[in-house]
Amino acid sequence: MAFKRSNVPGEDIKLAMGMTAERRRLIDETPAAPLVYEYGVNRLAKALHPGFVKAVIAEKTPCSADCVKIGLVPAASGSGAKTAGGGIEPAGGGDPAREGESACGGEFPYFRAGQFITLSCRAGESFLSRPYSIISSPKEALAGSLEIMVQRKGIFSTFLIDEAPAGTELWVGEPSGDFHHDSIRDRNHILAIAGGSGVTPFLSMMKAIREGSEDFRLTLVYGARTKAHIPFDPEDFIGEAAGKGAEKGVNIVVVLSEEEAEGFRHGFITADLLKEYIDDDTSVFMCGPDAMYRFVQDELNSLGFDSSKIRQERNSVGDRKVSEIKLYKLTVHIRDVVYELEASNNETLITALERAGIPAVVRCRNGSCGFCHSRVVDGEYFIDSKDDFRRAADKKFNYIHPCSTYPESDMEIDIPIMNP
Ligand code: FES
Repeated sequence: MAFKRSNVPGEDIKLAMGMTAERRRLIDETPAAPLVYEYGVNRLAKALHPGFVKAVIAEKTPCSADCVKIGLVPAASGSGAKTAGGGIEPAGGGDPAREGESACGGEFPYFRAGQFITLSCRAGESFLSRPYSIISSPKEALAGSLEIMVQRKGIFSTFLIDEAPAGTELWVGEPSGDFHHDSIRDRNHILAIAGGSGVTPFLSMMKAIREGSEDFRLTLVYGARTKAHIPFDPEDFIGEAAGKGAEKGVNIVVVLSEEEAEGFRHGFITADLLKEYIDDDTSVFMCGPDAMYRFVQDELNSLGFDSSKIRQERNSVGDRKVSEIKLYKLTVHIRDVVYELEASNNETLITALERAGIPAVVRCRNGSCGFCHSRVVDGEYFIDSKDDFRRAADKKFNYIHPCSTYPESDMEIDIPIMNP
């Protein structure tokens, strides 16, 4: 509302009094609905960190003797989703605070090729979740299709393969992890060594290289028992169908340990084989079972390969071997809600929480990301030194990561609420 100054004495006061009536008129004409402020930076932050996205299983495709590829689409574009009533509902289902949460109106968020997502859902009395590396390229996910590969191993993966039909709704946690190429940290040639479903982050990287969203060379050395255990078709990445794959620097070597076949190497991923693919500009990325890490690490050591150029994707912390299984009482605080449950000394606290159906915050499940950071109010516990990534302050003030902590007595803990 403009106020024009007058040169006539006393006129300013008259004009100012007229403004009151004008202001009232404007207020009366303005709708009572709150103003909507949406800044570009908030939109970007929401797109990059959307919290949880509700997704639907679109299809399941067997891809090897023990792996199944699962395609997800955002729930908004899925159809016939099965929630409560089918015995399955998304974590947080029924919680209004979680309803309607989605990235950019139901899109999958952007990620770096090699990152993982956490899938979660309620199955019967339990709340299940697990991290899975993404097979899709970032471009494919932005187009509305996100694929993961699931190996028949563990409760949740077996549940996904055998009991979650197409149409099942799941919560997808935002992409996480630093197992991606970083041109400041990593060399321009990645020697990717994988076994089992550990090939998944490299499939995403190879697609991203082919599409031009990543710019490095990649040699994949994949170890499998037989041809039937290879969960991907190398021709998709290096053959005619791959178009520019080869000239963009993608190379694939498959090593079969229990079968001899034309076009495949036979034996194990030994130092002799590895040195054929190592040049002056090579970093090594490993993803697979722990036994493979130990074997390949020894082989790389024998070559004198610089260990600062080796990176490996960490596996989830599982059950531990104990001489006697003991059950303890676990008291859990989530803000002002208190739960009481039993926890066994051979399973992590996060496993006990999930078994009891408590939706606990979790991402990496290996103690490294700090997302499940929780306070111990009382009680004794055990954390394997190789899985203990807590800061000094965490240790001093008794904070733990429940995904890598086992109870050693009755415990009382304070965990974060799942709603972001
Ligand atoms: S989920 Fe990453 S530290 Fe626990």
